[in-house]
Amino acid sequence: MRKKLAAGNWKMNGLVDSLSQVETLVAQHPAPGCDVLLCPPATLISAMSAIAGSALSIGGQDCHQAQTGAHTGDISAQMIRDAGGNYVILGHSERRADHDESDAQVAAKTKAAWDADLIAIICVGETEAQRDAGTTLQIIRDQLASSVPDGATGTNTVIAYEPVWAIGTGRTPSLPQIAQVHDDLRTTLTARFGTQGDAMRLLYGGSVKPSNADEIFATSNVDGALVGGASLKATDFGAIITALSKAH
Ligand code: PGA
Repeated sequence: MRKKLAAGNWKMNGLVDSLSQVETLVAQHPAPGCDVLLCPPATLISAMSAIAGSALSIGGQDCHQAQTGAHTGDISAQMIRDAGGNYVILGHSERRADHDESDAQVAAKTKAAWDADLIAIICVGETEAQRDAGTTLQIIRDQLASSVPDGATGTNTVIAYEPVWAIGTGRTPSLPQIAQVHDDLRTTLTARFGTQGDAMRLLYGGSVKPSNADEIFATSNVDGALVGGASLKATDFGAIITALSKAH
C-alpha cells in the first residue's frame, strides 16, 4: 500500500512570521491520516523542523549535485538533512525554466539526495504547447527516463506530475487527463522498476485547492498532491490534508 502524501511547496515565500501558519497547521492536524510535508525556503527549514514534530516532514526545494564545495549560493542535500529535512523537490518546472536545469542535472541531484538520505520528489510535466501538439505522454516518458536514475524505489523517490500550464494559473487538466498521465506513469515506472515502480507515490500538482482536492484524490493512480499557493495558508492546506486523509 502506498502511503498518501500531501506536500506543500512554499517556493520563494515565507518569513519567520509565516511560521505561525505551521503552528496552526500542527495544532489542527496533530496526527493526520496521510503523510504531510512542507518545503519552505531554505532559510526556514531549521525553524520549521523544530515546530513540525511528528505531524509533518520538512523538505528543501532544490539541492546541488555535490555535497560540499565552491558553489556560492547553492545548498546541498546534506545541508537540508542537517537542518532537519527529509525530502527535496527536484526538477520543478520553475527550476527547469529559470535555471535551465536539464534532466541529466535532475538525475545527478537525485543521486545526491539519496546519498544524504533524502527522499527525492522528481517533477515532470508538459507545457501547454506540448499538450496542444499531442505529445504530453511522450514528453513525460522522456523526462522520466532521463531524470529518474537507476536505483529509484518506492522509499527513496516520489514522482510529481505537474503540467506547466496548470501551475499557479487556477487551471487544471480534466480528471480523465490526469488519470491518463498517472496511469501511464505507473505503467512506465513498473516496466522499469518492477514492484518498486508500483510502490512509488505519484503526486498531482498544479492549482490544487480545497475545492478540487476531493475529485483529484479520487482519480486513478493519484497518491497525493504537490501544492503551491494553497499550502501557504493553514486553513487551505489543512482542508487539502483532510481531503487526502479521507480519500481511498
Ligand atoms: P500551485 O503550484 O499549487 O500554486 O499551482 C504547484 C507547484 O508548482 O508545485
